[in-house]
Amino acid sequence: MPIHVNGSAVSVPDDPRVSLLDLLRERLHLTGTKVGCNQGACGACTVLVDGERIISCLALAVQYDGRAITTVEGLSRDGALHPLQAAFVEHDGFQCGYCTPGQICSAIGMAGEIERGIPSHATEDLVAESVPASRAEFQERMSGNLCRCGAHNGIIDAISEVYGNDRGSLEQFALTEEPVE
Ligand code: FES
Ligand code: FES
Repeated sequence: MPIHVNGSAVSVPDDPRVSLLDLLRERLHLTGTKVGCNQGACGACTVLVDGERIISCLALAVQYDGRAITTVEGLSRDGALHPLQAAFVEHDGFQCGYCTPGQICSAIGMAGEIERGIPSHATEDLVAESVPASRAEFQERMSGNLCRCGAHNGIIDAISEVYGNDRGSLEQFALTEEPVE
């Protein structure tokens, strides 16, 4: 089976050593996903797999046979930015922008984790049915995505605007993309 990348079917690489990050950047030329540390420490390479966030530098592409990968290039719809992309612009959630694709993909995956009630280190009530979409939760859950420009406050502001407690259901911005056969 192919890998589905932003809705397009892509052949699984013949070489099982090719990372998902290298498949995206070097073979598909989807350079929105960035290389930072290349060893799982910075979050710059974060992409979504079936709506869940992973760091693509530590993932082998062959493992994602039949799965749906979404990169930052796949977030806009009909030329319109994803609401979180627009919020990053609005809140100065970046300076150089190098970490931004990873931050945005990570935040979308994170919102799904909160929606499913998965607790974090910052969650006070571990037996509650729901997890608050609070600033403290966002800060803790985004701690794996580093920003050397120090734009973290703007990043959390943008995430809070789109996914915070006051924004109602997270489902309105859920990824609904169907892979193309
Ligand atoms: S490049 Fe993958 S975590 Fe840093
Ligand atoms: S905006 Fe420069 S590293 Fe985050």
